[in-house]
Amino acid sequence: MTDVLLKLHDVTRRFGGLTAVAGVSTDINKSEIFGIIGPNGAGKTTLFNVIAGYFPPSSGKVVFDGTDISGQSSDRIARRGIGRTFQAVTVFQDHTARENLRRAAMVSRRYNPLVYFSSRNAGDGSEVIQKMAQFTGLEPVLDNRAGSLSYGQQKMLGIGMALMGRPRLLLMDEPAAGLHTSEKKEAAQLIRRLRDELGITIVLVEHDMPLVMSVCDRILVLNRGTPLALGNPAQIKADQTVIDAYLGEEYDFA
Ligand SMILES: Nc1ncnc2c1ncn2[C@@H]1O[C@H](COP(=O)(O)OP(=O)(O)O)[C@@H](O)[C@H]1O
Ligand SMILES: [Mg+2]
Repeated sequence: MTDVLLKLHDVTRRFGGLTAVAGVSTDINKSEIFGIIGPNGAGKTTLFNVIAGYFPPSSGKVVFDGTDISGQSSDRIARRGIGRTFQAVTVFQDHTARENLRRAAMVSRRYNPLVYFSSRNAGDGSEVIQKMAQFTGLEPVLDNRAGSLSYGQQKMLGIGMALMGRPRLLLMDEPAAGLHTSEKKEAAQLIRRLRDELGITIVLVEHDMPLVMSVCDRILVLNRGTPLALGNPAQIKADQTVIDAYLGEEYDFA
């Protein structure tokens, strides 16, 4: 039997007359790397916003670890253990990388007394910051101003900040967008290590197909808010409806 961590039950989100997410149902298992792909405007970010509580579903349910969290606030959902990273870079440019991580830790501690006390007993949090910096490859630039870091490093910092909230589930919105080829390889490695070494379940929205196909256990394809296909990478690559709607015949997966 598999262990379901996140259950989407007929999740729908409308904006006025537009249905951005239309009846998405799926189970995401503990320790899975679950991909969501689809053309721009397919509803991927909206689905993340609904899961993370930025706005409620218009109908349907989001169940996290057995609890119905639909309509709960984003703070409360973050406290339950759902973290997210953003499509755009969202770091404080004028603070050092270390200060950005410390800030993120403080925000999550304020929300989560358990995390606060456990990390307070372990010290002032600098150990955790050091560990996250090592994990994301930011150790050499920890005391540099965030705005002076490369775009790729700033995205890594965004991931590190999300990790300071100690999520069990991490929603990653286009982590490889804007990265160079070598940075994309590092991002893929980091995603695997988040699961393998930290035990974090990942939901990954990404347009970079080689990355998606190499890291994901299963992939859900959305098109105009509607699920088009669900399967493992080999099944998705070979699915004619997916090729027609999104991948294209000549898509090069190398
Ligand atoms: N806050 C919002 N208000 C109104 N329309 C929105 C909002 N967020 C997203 N949309 C619309 O919902 C659709 C899906 O967008 P989005 O979830 O961002 O797609 P994706 O991330 O797959 O590119 C788009 O048509 C977009 O314009
Ligand atoms: Mg998006």
